Amino acid sequence: MNHPLIEQILSGSGLLYFVLGLLVLATLLVRGLSNDAHVRRRCLFLVGLLVLFALLEITLAWIPEELAGFVTRPDGGRAPGLVPHPAYQVVSVVLLIVGLLALLLLAMITLVDFLLVRRLHFEIPNILRDATVFTFFFVGVLLILYYRTDLNVTGLFTTSAVISVVIGLALQDTLGNVFSGLALQTERSFNVGDWVRFGDREGVVADISWRATKLRTRENDLVIIPNNVISKDTLVNYSAPTRIHAVRELVGVHYRHPPADVIAALAEAADQTEGVLKRPLVDIRTLQFGDFSITYEVKYWIKDYADVEDIKNAFMTRVWYAFSRRAIEIPFPIRNLYLHQVTPETERAREEADDERIYQYLRRVDLFDALSQEEVRGLAARARVEKFYAGETVLTQGALGDSLYIIDQGLVEVIVSHDGRSERLAQLGPRAFFGEMALLTGAERSATVIALKPTHFFVIDREAFRNTLEGNPRIAERISETLAQRERQREATLAALHEAAARSVDEEKSQILSKIRDFFGFRETEET
Ligand code: CMP
Repeated sequence: MNHPLIEQILSGSGLLYFVLGLLVLATLLVRGLSNDAHVRRRCLFLVGLLVLFALLEITLAWIPEELAGFVTRPDGGRAPGLVPHPAYQVVSVVLLIVGLLALLLLAMITLVDFLLVRRLHFEIPNILRDATVFTFFFVGVLLILYYRTDLNVTGLFTTSAVISVVIGLALQDTLGNVFSGLALQTERSFNVGDWVRFGDREGVVADISWRATKLRTRENDLVIIPNNVISKDTLVNYSAPTRIHAVRELVGVHYRHPPADVIAALAEAADQTEGVLKRPLVDIRTLQFGDFSITYEVKYWIKDYADVEDIKNAFMTRVWYAFSRRAIEIPFPIRNLYLHQVTPETERAREEADDERIYQYLRRVDLFDALSQEEVRGLAARARVEKFYAGETVLTQGALGDSLYIIDQGLVEVIVSHDGRSERLAQLGPRAFFGEMALLTGAERSATVIALKPTHFFVIDREAFRNTLEGNPRIAERISETLAQRERQREATLAALHEAAARSVDEEKSQILSKIRDFFGFRETEET
């Protein structure tokens, strides 16, 4: 086939198309491998430019020689001669500009994205790279226009003062944003991924561009704030200077409770809340004697501001449970006066109703099968209610204790630990009991019990139990049976933990020994 277009491609331009093809493939590969959205976008843009470049190249090759201003030399080659047709000139200038842009983009992907950022871990603000590319591009285009066209490029600068003023005024805001953006990025006041508050908006910085900074709020909305607005106002960066952040909570408590009790309950709630750092220490202060309550301030630390809402929720929920266990009252500000007459009779009636509920429940607990109705009633009258939230520790292995717990509602887990290793012994639900070992033997708590769900218990103390035991020794037999079974299982589990710990000590010993041998170049001595 002797089509002039194919001939042009084959003669001289073949290598160029080959290189273009390779570049397109390489760029697509990089795009496929990269997980940075910016790099992926740049790669796609580069592929577009390379394809456009190839198309323009084909167009140029296709323009007849007379228009291109070439003459055919006697040896068959082409030589510049006549003045080219304006159409040819335009296409060739566009081609050069597209080529320049592709080259700059290629340099940015290879030198900046790959070498500086990925390899050398050197963060370069987006705006800075764009500004650099833009400057190179601007100068390049001027040079192309200067050398390849008859335009008076220098004149453009001198005669366009009025136009510059007009454009400058029109772009005033945009330019303001650009320069503010540049300042923000070079100052590094915040980075993508930081949690910030600006005015009444709070969110994580999703992107910082030429014009604006984008925040993603907790409601998953995007807030777009122009850069020059940000630079004029106060911005709080929760992720700087470090990511750890202090949370302050105010809690109001009834006047009748001594601060020491309230502070202990708040400290326990903070200690049990997942996500509250152990260090820096939690700081609790008696802050104010208010109209209807004493206000306490709890200041605790968390690892990352992103989790603040979940941790606040977990902490406040635990405060309620910790207060409920200690019968600490959180008053509420009622201004209307409701007259509620509390007489000894009404109070007694309320207590009796509570006792009746506990009695009805305890009657259905297997453990108390052997007791008469009167004995169960006696126990119910002495039982108290305790409530724990999911994740809270009810009993701690090794602690002293003298109470028996009967689960009213919820679920707990019994765990035994040895030498830093733990094993689950059981999960217990409604009507199951625990805490009998320390109660009956006076020993330390043999295991740790943790609430898996919000759990309510009826708690019976040793004194109350002693009376029942004396009156009905059969109950001791019933408990001993369970106690013996549990103890056997606990000891078997403990033995397995002991063994695992001993094994790991042996392993560690032999590892250290072999390190020492390696270091001094000894060989293992053989027994003779
Ligand atoms: P106590 O030692 O007072 O405190 C921890 C409690 O965990 C213990 O009483 C038992 O009630 C309970 N416990 C111990 N071992 C087991 C087991 N193997 N299965 C179920 N509960 C157990």
